[in-house]
Amino acid sequence: MRAMLIEFKVNGKNYGREVRPTMRLLDLLRDELGLTGTKEGCAEGECGACTVIMDGEAVNSCLVLAPQIRGREIITVEGLEQGGELDLLQQKFLEHSAVECGFCTPGMLMSAKALLMKNPHPSEEEIRLAIAGNLCRCAGYSKIVAAIKDASHSADGGCR
Ligand code: FES
Ligand code: FES
Repeated sequence: MRAMLIEFKVNGKNYGREVRPTMRLLDLLRDELGLTGTKEGCAEGECGACTVIMDGEAVNSCLVLAPQIRGREIITVEGLEQGGELDLLQQKFLEHSAVECGFCTPGMLMSAKALLMKNPHPSEEEIRLAIAGNLCRCAGYSKIVAAIKDASHSADGGCR
């Protein structure tokens, strides 16, 4: 199959890349752009480790083909930090010790970020629903929910 040229934006930066029709967004991010913060767990849409934000929606990058991001805007975990400062969600994850091995953390952060971008003051139920597709094998869910709740209680809802 022939490679195709696509243009897209990642973390505010414009890119043009030739991609194979079957290339996954996850591989484009990690292997082509060097954004290895996005993790691969199950590779079949079950664990959420690969979650990124595409045009404001949390998506599993292992299930999105690279050609599907033509003209779209992607935010990865690397895009949360701004001007050397951690995003409020990242700060709250640290404050609440919501990171154990850290493998699920980028995906958790991106699911939470997508939620707060749409709904700055979610209920606990809405938070739990937003991260329902993100598995934490260290089972730190209560601390993760507390961190997201704390970020949402701040003045700006944790969103920049
Ligand atoms: S690696 Fe994509 S959902 Fe598990
Ligand atoms: S902190 Fe280890 S998988 Fe979640």
